[in-house]
Amino acid sequence: MAVKVTFEYLTLLNQAVSREIQVSIQYMLQHTKMEKLIRKVVPENILLDKTTYEAMGKFLKEFAIQEMKHAADIMERIYYLGGEATTKGNLPMIGNTLSEFARNGVRAEEEALVLYRQIIEAAGSIGDWETRETFEKIYSAEEMHLFKFQEYTEMNDEPEGKGVESEWRLIFTDDYFTLLNKAVAAEISAIIQYTNQHEKANLLNMRRKDTALEVITENNKAKTVSELLKKTFMVEMEHLEKISERIYLLEGEATVVPDPLPKIGETADEFLRLDHKAENDAIVLYRGIIAEALKRGDTTTRHMFEGIVIQEEEHYWSFDDYLR
Ligand SMILES: [Fe+2]
Ligand SMILES: [Fe+2]
Ligand SMILES: [Fe+2]
Ligand SMILES: [Fe+2]
Repeated sequence: MAVKVTFEYLTLLNQAVSREIQVSIQYMLQHTKMEKLIRKVVPENILLDKTTYEAMGKFLKEFAIQEMKHAADIMERIYYLGGEATTKGNLPMIGNTLSEFARNGVRAEEEALVLYRQIIEAAGSIGDWETRETFEKIYSAEEMHLFKFQEYTEMNDEPEGKGVESEWRLIFTDDYFTLLNKAVAAEISAIIQYTNQHEKANLLNMRRKDTALEVITENNKAKTVSELLKKTFMVEMEHLEKISERIYLLEGEATVVPDPLPKIGETADEFLRLDHKAENDAIVLYRGIIAEALKRGDTTTRHMFEGIVIQEEEHYWSFDDYLR
């Protein structure tokens, strides 16, 4: 390898991964909480109209996806340089009003810019031009995010609308939210696991060609798995969106911590086994949620999870197909 990579350098890059994972989850959850804020606050608030919420909700989702792509790009570099990309994100900070969202965004983006300036310099000093270029691109994206959030920090804080306790809401108890949050935690875990494995599999594909056929076709299991994982993690992102939006609408708080901890593995076959297991566990958990929702008469949540389980089963079988 042309570049001399130290442990400290890889640690620095992994700090960037942790930040990107954090803000991806942070913005996605803020995006899904927006729907709730619109319904709750708009009639009471003449300062903010619906368009403001919608505009912010829209860019938060776009940012969330961009940030996970940043995480993936950085993971790619780490694997390429011989390191192991972390699956541990920093703790997302959500907030309860648009200005809090914006302030948390400003803080996260400013911290990222400081770190990335450091990384750009470190990459330059050891001649790791690829990494430097990657971070220069990410840097300008983060700047755009920062400016966008700054536009919104000056807004007056919305009054906290006092929710009226209605009878139909009695089924939404704390233990129910705890159960739903197990799904949120499982989705966050899957998103991180699949993104990381996707990048690691890319590298395995580049490095290891086992047969002449693989050399000629430039295709192997790692490549197929990598592509499959990319498709799958985008679907998990949609699941996270739906489930957390539901929780916020019901006035619960969504968790921001993955559970179980993402597990990566060393080979394409190991990835598949771990992912197969993750999908299995998700299906079992979601069946439990469907049963509980049915018991409580929460039809909307039940329908939502029935749709999600169908997709998890598809994931399960697609991993299963390559597992032999
Ligand atoms: Fe980012
Ligand atoms: Fe950002
Ligand atoms: Fe999912
Ligand atoms: Fe899945």
